[in-house]
Amino acid sequence: MWLKDLLAGLAIFSSLVVAESTFSPARPPSIPLAVKAPYLNSWLDAGSDGGNGGYLAGEWPVFWQQQVTGWAGLIRVDGTPYTWMGAPGGGAALVDQTDFSYTSTRSTFVMNVGGKVEMNITFLSPVTPTDLKRQSLVFSYLDVAVTSLDGASHDVQLYADCSAEWASGDLSAIIEWDHNSADGVAYHQFSRQDQVEISETNQLPNWGTWYWSTSDADGLTYQSGADVDVRGAFIGTGALPNTKDTNFRAVNDNWPVFGFAHDLGSVGGNTVSTLFSIGLTQDNAIQLLGESSNLTTYPSLWKSYFGSDLEAMTFFYNDYSEASSLATALDNKVATDSVAAAGQNYLTITSLSVRQAFGALQFTGTDADPLVFLKEISSNSDIQTVDVIFPTMPLILYSNPAILNYMLKPLFLNQENGHYPKTSAIHDLGTFPLAKGYPDGSDEPQPLEECGNMLIMVLAYAQRTGDNAYLATHYNILKQWAGYLVDEALIPADQISTDDFAGSLANQTNLAIKGIIGLRAMADIAGVTGHADDAASYFATATNYIAQWQGYGINHAANPPHTTLSYNEPDSYGLLYNLYANSLLGFGSAFVPQSVYDMQSAFYPTVALKYGVPLDTRHTYTKSDWELWAAAVASPDTRDLFVNLIAEWINVTPTNMALTDLYDCETGDYPGISFTARPVVGGHFALLALPQ
Ligand SMILES: *[C@@H]1O[C@H](CO)[C@@H](O)[C@H](O)[C@H]1NC(C)=O
Ligand SMILES: *[C@@H]1O[C@H](CO)[C@@H](O)[C@H](O)[C@H]1NC(C)=O
Ligand SMILES: *[C@@H]1O[C@H](CO)[C@@H](O)[C@H](O)[C@H]1NC(C)=O
Repeated sequence: MWLKDLLAGLAIFSSLVVAESTFSPARPPSIPLAVKAPYLNSWLDAGSDGGNGGYLAGEWPVFWQQQVTGWAGLIRVDGTPYTWMGAPGGGAALVDQTDFSYTSTRSTFVMNVGGKVEMNITFLSPVTPTDLKRQSLVFSYLDVAVTSLDGASHDVQLYADCSAEWASGDLSAIIEWDHNSADGVAYHQFSRQDQVEISETNQLPNWGTWYWSTSDADGLTYQSGADVDVRGAFIGTGALPNTKDTNFRAVNDNWPVFGFAHDLGSVGGNTVSTLFSIGLTQDNAIQLLGESSNLTTYPSLWKSYFGSDLEAMTFFYNDYSEASSLATALDNKVATDSVAAAGQNYLTITSLSVRQAFGALQFTGTDADPLVFLKEISSNSDIQTVDVIFPTMPLILYSNPAILNYMLKPLFLNQENGHYPKTSAIHDLGTFPLAKGYPDGSDEPQPLEECGNMLIMVLAYAQRTGDNAYLATHYNILKQWAGYLVDEALIPADQISTDDFAGSLANQTNLAIKGIIGLRAMADIAGVTGHADDAASYFATATNYIAQWQGYGINHAANPPHTTLSYNEPDSYGLLYNLYANSLLGFGSAFVPQSVYDMQSAFYPTVALKYGVPLDTRHTYTKSDWELWAAAVASPDTRDLFVNLIAEWINVTPTNMALTDLYDCETGDYPGISFTARPVVGGHFALLALPQ
């Protein structure tokens, strides 16, 4: 071993032992870095299952599926090199991380560099639900502020690079690249040589161009080349040679990286900030079997606002000040509303969920006619899964209900144009990014689940926007799905629910109440669209069913009484999370008696385990989204119990990937299945989506 490496090893060891970072409001299982869209989804794993505890220096950032997204940061202070991001090696000791904090849109690390300077490193992934122009851009910021720590002035150079790993799920794919500048922005661009639209390898796209950018300022140098060469040049000299490697090659062939170095000069009491951005441009985004007998190709929504990749990229880079203000406004709104609803522990949960939920959405179409596609990340990459949109819905309703319309639109286009043979609602539209539907009806069978979900979602949207014309437009198919519920909701056949991993079961109490609330929703849909006879009929059926449901689904003799997991299994129980829909739609105790709410509030605490209330009696695992749906309609004490258990679990869970919604209530770990980065964490906003 070279002495240099030995010393680096010792430095890494000592910094791991010495560095004690604080984490606020929690140390999440994985820290969002650049999380903006299904393909721009980079995280720093923290939990003990595979992460390093949440330290930016010393571990590579990873895509949600755990492939490395090579992203290295180095700094030289008075000639001494340090690593502040990633694990580039090369003899640069790790900086000491002193603090980490997160908000809805930002992850911020504070670093002590050799006792001489402090770095404030902020990853900002903008979320602008009511500003589609900005939301459409698949880009994220990295802002690095450096200031003196000891009062003295120091000679500082700052370096950061991206590797070609961002651009391909196949490490043997050939990558090509270039360097240039435009509109005051210096950039490296890199992409797969073999571009194949609307296709993925290992969840990463086989098409599009990546841009890694910084300010074209005095003192900037750049280089593309092998990782050891580029990083070595900076470590050795504090600058790069302004050269381009012309040997286009595979991602893993002498690992091409794209580096920038800024000479910050003498840094004293003043703070010197440097901005970087990373992002992806794709002209076309999705194909859908919708309006015609063939697939329709939808452009990325940003194409509606920008004439070219470069226009989009430079707009984003130069928009930092406005983007930052908008991000602060969203951070503050989520903070104020969450704390008011259920305290700081609730904010710990909600603020971790925003980027993850929006990061599963792909904005397409045009400004006049947007379509938003959802990727069911990690559970199987289905596109537009209805029972994934459903749990995600509270955050969408809270932040901009119009987006729910844009998400449901592809489902209506497919089914109303005759591409689905069943009378019940479809489960999903295929595998992201190809929404080719199921003309043969071979989708995962969750007919009761999805009919109920669709009726509840369209009414929730229309109530919040006043868009009753929307209900009229889709009336025929909504009535078709309501007909299915009239036949099937009260005595559910043996089938799976959205919790398909828990198995199939007949007479599921929670599934039945969803279908019945769906019928109650249809009564209102019929009413506001001028179908008075239908309204009366659905209202009568729903009212009749909910009375019978109380006879079938409640164990009144238990102490305390509770709803069951399934009819005729009196000792079984589960989270009655679909009761939430009754409150979301404002039906309240006029439809489901208050006694049902009170009963569940009194019951849940009696079956709580260390980190939560189990989903049902079949397993000790639970789902955080459904827990918070149950919490949102529980008494304040029971609501706080759920919130406090989940916030505590987030802080201590050994899970190491982007926040899982499925976890074991006793160990806090994955229950054998690992979910990660799923948009259903939007369901954590359940308390904030209820009508005021
Ligand atoms: C770090 O920078 C962010 C963004 O500018 C700012 O909000 C935060 O207060 C800074 N934190 C520290 C510890 O300097
Ligand atoms: C649909 O696609 C098929 C096969 O690619 C093609 O032959 C046909 O012309 C297309 N039809 C229309 C209406 O575009
Ligand atoms: C479902 O519940 C109903 C009502 O109690 C009962 O008649 C039926 O046999 C049950 N079905 C199954 C498969 O257990």
